[in-house]
Amino acid sequence: MKKKLIVIGIESSCDDTAVSIIKNRCVLSNVIIRQRIHKQYGGVVPEIASRLHEKYLILAVNKAISYASINKNQIDAVSFTLGPGLIGPLLVGASFAKSLSMGLKIPLLTVNHVQAHILAHFIQNANMNNTYPEFPFLCLMISGGHTLIVRVNDFFQMEILGSTLDDSVGDAFDKIARMLGLSYPGGPLLDHFSINGYSKKFRFSKPSVKGLNFSFSGLKSQVLQLVNKKLQKDSFFVKKNLSDLCASVQNIIAEMLLEKVLKATLKTGIFRVALAGGVSANNEIRRHFILFARKNKKWEIFLPKKEYATDNGAMIAITGLLKYEKKIFDSMNVTPYSKLKTF
Ligand code: KG4
Ligand code: ZN
Repeated sequence: MKKKLIVIGIESSCDDTAVSIIKNRCVLSNVIIRQRIHKQYGGVVPEIASRLHEKYLILAVNKAISYASINKNQIDAVSFTLGPGLIGPLLVGASFAKSLSMGLKIPLLTVNHVQAHILAHFIQNANMNNTYPEFPFLCLMISGGHTLIVRVNDFFQMEILGSTLDDSVGDAFDKIARMLGLSYPGGPLLDHFSINGYSKKFRFSKPSVKGLNFSFSGLKSQVLQLVNKKLQKDSFFVKKNLSDLCASVQNIIAEMLLEKVLKATLKTGIFRVALAGGVSANNEIRRHFILFARKNKKWEIFLPKKEYATDNGAMIAITGLLKYEKKIFDSMNVTPYSKLKTF
């Protein structure tokens, strides 16, 4: 019988120190230590994030091993995020992973963070359908760093069909939330305050961007202009209209994303659609895709469970495991990178 592989995944590309252990595709533990200190600066401070990763990694690894109820010598491979992300935090994760792999004398596997968000769908029971998407499928990868439509032909054969021309959708969420006085990261707060809001109260226009690309900077400016204009007449404008403002922003973003994905399905003839990345935790975006798929029987959608949408170690571990199965190992000489290279 084939041996069941145990892989540890280490994620440190931004401000979450995340470590997970998986056995084959099943998650044994999934530890996340969030660095809450960045809230007070309104965004991630790379230097602080690096220092905190140094402090938290050992803690997270020990917790992950203990929750998984395994012995460290049972681990077959170490996988970690090599990029894209913040260089300082990535370097901390890389040196930690290299030392662990040397100490335990087990293979080292490097992971592309963006690819890992997509491959999170291959963790057992990671999405709402509890099934793996069949290849090929389209993936809307929406996070703090990226906004992409990807054609996924196989685990490591992916093609970018569209991307943002300016801000990522996560960045737009966070910046607009900040304009509305919400703290960092604003995406989940904007989602929360939308709950009782009326999404048609404020009308924003959509940009006309060619092909399958996106643009979010115009929306940011529209919200800023509206808020500044209204505040001149009523200094409580934002406070009084917070829910409606949040709901209106969310609604237009969801429409923009769905429109482009619809275009991508028609262009490629692929109607299996997965969502991935932190922003795919957004309730309104999920609702838009669910409703559309209900009306369009050709569509099959895959929504990640929220713990596998935002940054996590399990997505790094599954990507490492899939590389191990394909015997793609890395040397100790690898160095982190900040920008997305092609897949
Ligand atoms: O994938 P992720 O955890 O980290 C990156 O790889 O960037 O995504 C983080 C982004 C942040 O911009 C955060 O505000 C956004 O995801 N986010 C959300 C929600 N949860 C996280 N945006 C909107 N609604 C949410 N519920
Ligand atoms: Zn991420």
